[in-house]
Amino acid sequence: MEILVTGGAGYIGSHTCVELLNSGYKVIVVDNFFNSKPESLKRVQEITGKHLKIYEVDTLDEVTLEKVFSENNIEAVIHFAGFKSVGESLQIPILYYHNNITGTLILCEKMKKYNVKKLVFSSSATVYGMPKSVPISESFPLSANNPYGRTKLMIETILQDICAADKQWSVAILRYFNPIGAHESGKIGEDPSGTPNNLMPFITQVAVGKREKLSIFGGDYDTHDGTGVRDYIHVVDIAKGHIRALERIIKTSGIEAYNLGTGIGYSVLEVVKNFQKVTNKKIPYVILKRRRGDIAECYADPIKAKTILKWSAEKNIQDMCRDAWRFQVNNPNGY
Ligand code: UFG
Repeated sequence: MEILVTGGAGYIGSHTCVELLNSGYKVIVVDNFFNSKPESLKRVQEITGKHLKIYEVDTLDEVTLEKVFSENNIEAVIHFAGFKSVGESLQIPILYYHNNITGTLILCEKMKKYNVKKLVFSSSATVYGMPKSVPISESFPLSANNPYGRTKLMIETILQDICAADKQWSVAILRYFNPIGAHESGKIGEDPSGTPNNLMPFITQVAVGKREKLSIFGGDYDTHDGTGVRDYIHVVDIAKGHIRALERIIKTSGIEAYNLGTGIGYSVLEVVKNFQKVTNKKIPYVILKRRRGDIAECYADPIKAKTILKWSAEKNIQDMCRDAWRFQVNNPNGY
């Protein structure tokens, strides 16, 4: 079965390509390599010993995207392609809306034209906005606090409308909590450009000596140690969740959203402690004021994915730290 993966060279995309190939799917990747490198796909092929078909195409490029559909026998799509930085989305909102939303609309148009109506969409826990309580389940009210989050929310709504209009569509919306870690081979992992915004890549860069110290954003939250609590989940577990979702949409129709999280919240200080323990590296840190837009606690109720997709996270926080570190050590300057 041929699966189209948009944004397949990215962090979650590349790990998902590994799982797809290992599960026997044929994989066609579309990526514009704006925020990713072709090297990640070379490594996916090294890890699996299998071949990927790669198109350097932007989802906004209708004509070339159509060629991808006409040249292949695509049966389902996993759609990762999109801009993903909250901070950047506040600076360049038009580009974010255009790239993420128009890109998805063009993709859906081509899917419809070629009668490909099965889609796994990469969403985010950011669509829960400021949740009223934790753990967060899929039925919680949705809202977003920044343009990036709004693109995810708008795309979820668009997909709902598409499925309401045509009952042949089958869509799984996957709401990721905080993916970290890397493939255990140490060959693929998170490769942010410039200063990392996210916690784990910042920690690994401090550990490898690229940055002096970690800034912890806020020590006065109403959490057990005052620092923010998140549901960190191993990227390989996230990737496996896509395979389960794909298996499900192949057999069904309609649209469902699923949280991909562990259900366990760790504070920033707990992540630092676990990282230090498994790597024997000291992470110097300072506690600064809160980062704008951050919430105190965010972790999933993962029961829906467990019940319906038969998926749950298998790796723990120490696996996540160990694997993130292995990728950093093997690739001190990224790909
Ligand atoms: N943090 C620090 N220092 C840093 C970076 C982060 O203390 O240098 C803290 C944050 O304040 C937060 C925690 O570490 O408490 C996690 O922060 P991340 O930036 O790693 O992740 P977020 O939870 O802020 O955001 C992530 C994704 C978003 C997504 C969101 C969904 O980056 O794209 O989860 O909940 F929208």
